[in-house]
Amino acid sequence: MTANEIFLKMKEKLSDIVPEAELKYKSELANEINRLKEERNAVILGHNYMEPALYYSVPDFVGDSLELSRKAAQTDRKVIVFCGVRFMAETAKILNPGKTVLLPSEKAGCSLAGSITAEDVRILKDKFPGVPVVSYVNTYADVKAESDYCCTSGNAAAVVNAIGNDKVIFLPDEFLARNVAAETGKKIIFPSVGFTGMRNADQEPGIDYQMIGWRGRCEVHEKFSVEDITNIRKQFPDVVILAHPECSPEVVAASDFSGSTTAMIRYVEQTKSHRYLLLTECAMGDNIAAANPDKEMLRLCSVRCPHMNQITLEDTLEALQKNQYVIEVPEEIRVKAARAVERMIQIG
Ligand code: 13P
Ligand code: SF4
Repeated sequence: MTANEIFLKMKEKLSDIVPEAELKYKSELANEINRLKEERNAVILGHNYMEPALYYSVPDFVGDSLELSRKAAQTDRKVIVFCGVRFMAETAKILNPGKTVLLPSEKAGCSLAGSITAEDVRILKDKFPGVPVVSYVNTYADVKAESDYCCTSGNAAAVVNAIGNDKVIFLPDEFLARNVAAETGKKIIFPSVGFTGMRNADQEPGIDYQMIGWRGRCEVHEKFSVEDITNIRKQFPDVVILAHPECSPEVVAASDFSGSTTAMIRYVEQTKSHRYLLLTECAMGDNIAAANPDKEMLRLCSVRCPHMNQITLEDTLEALQKNQYVIEVPEEIRVKAARAVERMIQIG
């Protein structure tokens, strides 16, 4: 495809969202990225949160965390460029030790992944011996290595149900854990952080629980409130509200649908309402609006993911030109983390 063909393709999707002059410039960048992608035998995986010009040009596959993990597991390309955040690129490396995995920005972290360390998990395992550990995929490799299973928002309840144990440790997102507990009918406790002097809750009389959680939060989704929903419903009585399961259980309960980023995309595609509100990273609203021009997408763009927004077409080009930033995972951690990630891919 030539730069002009890329421009025309982008224009068809994005002419109502991105000015033409910007599309022209971005199509030149995309063209160079695509050329280098072939030259380097690379595949580009793009998360649903990528900005529209990137989302609709260079990725070979777009999707949510679970879908992109599956694509990373299947690729036969030598290089994987992950247009997403570090934990996603690490997951691709865990599944592909022999391939080069590149993350276009060093700054693309995640508040959930940063909320827990491998040592925290070891302390919890000590306190609750024999209880299986499920870690959200939004964690770093050393935390995954301490875990029995990983899950994503797309299969969290399915993973907890598949384990079939009477108790599970579920880390690190407090809200996802609460939402999964509600969905699976389990009671959840949050042992005090720091653990000095904490009694073993297993031995506490009268406490009945099936899930043990951690108080990590997504810095984006924790900000949406029931008040936002009430106000928006007042202004737009016909709005259909979609919330990611990293939102609080109160927000999820006040919404009309909750699911992974891809589940939300599909919901809009497959339902016939005129107006939707997305409670998730704002760029995804642009991507859905571009694919569904007859539907109106409301979004709260004052809340943005500073990590996902690091990834641009410029950085993606530089990643391929300079072979940066190479993701490495020490082999002993990778082997242990791979077990948990492979179980996640198999379930749901
Ligand atoms: P998904 O797995 O739904 O794509 O979500 C990833 C994420 O980081 C949401 O904030
Ligand atoms: Fe992490 Fe939240 Fe950003 Fe997703 S939106 S990458 S969970 S900080």
